[in-house]
Amino acid sequence: MSVIRELRLGVNIDHVATIRNARGGGHPDPVLAARLAAKAGADGITAHLREDRRHIGDDDIERLSSEIDLPLNLEMAATDEMLAIALRHQPNACCLVPEKREELTTEGGLDVAAKHNQIAPYVTKLAEAGIRVSLFIDPSSVQFAVAKAMGAHIVELHAGAYCEAVISGDDAQRDIELKRLQMGAAEAHDVGLEVHAGHGLTFDTVSPVAAISEIVELNIGHFLIGEAIFGGLDSTIKRMRALMDQSRANALGARSA
Ligand code: PXP
Repeated sequence: MSVIRELRLGVNIDHVATIRNARGGGHPDPVLAARLAAKAGADGITAHLREDRRHIGDDDIERLSSEIDLPLNLEMAATDEMLAIALRHQPNACCLVPEKREELTTEGGLDVAAKHNQIAPYVTKLAEAGIRVSLFIDPSSVQFAVAKAMGAHIVELHAGAYCEAVISGDDAQRDIELKRLQMGAAEAHDVGLEVHAGHGLTFDTVSPVAAISEIVELNIGHFLIGEAIFGGLDSTIKRMRALMDQSRANALGARSA
């Protein structure tokens, strides 16, 4: 029996491919990781096909689309090349992200307000093809208004600044960044956008974000794959799910009390 959850977990399997690509060949296989993630309780699989193919490759997207039953969230830059790939594979969702060749990871959200004319045609074409469109943005009113006007269905809030503040032990900054996520989630929800969050989430940072009731999906990758080296993928994902579910249940309990 499938369980309808208040908060979905999208497992990002990019860094299984990072390890595979360090040596070439096919091991470890990100598609096998996706299969194990599904068994462990993931609600979706996320993969970022970068222009430089530094981790996930075209063949991975092909196999994730055809071999895995969970919804695929394809992260991609707004380019003609990526649009053609998305239209060919018809993932459940495409999350448009900013991409810089020299960055180690996605450093900030898309500035959809400044790049409206560049991004809007991709949102339209993906939406017309029946693909749910998500925009990875920093929590800000102007970004939400533009995302909605462009026809995006979802905004994914960049949780990186909050996570960095937790890691650096800067409690004042952590509170500021968490408030930004809380207020942003409420505002995005109010304008009619589905709200997701991701980037940098770990066992130590996930609970306050999972407690934000407007957020319906968290996308988590690097920590889960790294931690799986020590704890195994199955138990790492199950523990993350348990923390998310516990935090959401506590928050809902506190609201209804
Ligand atoms: N969401 C988006 C849009 C991302 O670009 C990334 C990183 O690829 C993630 C979530 C996952 O971040 P992390 O790997 O830090 O968990």
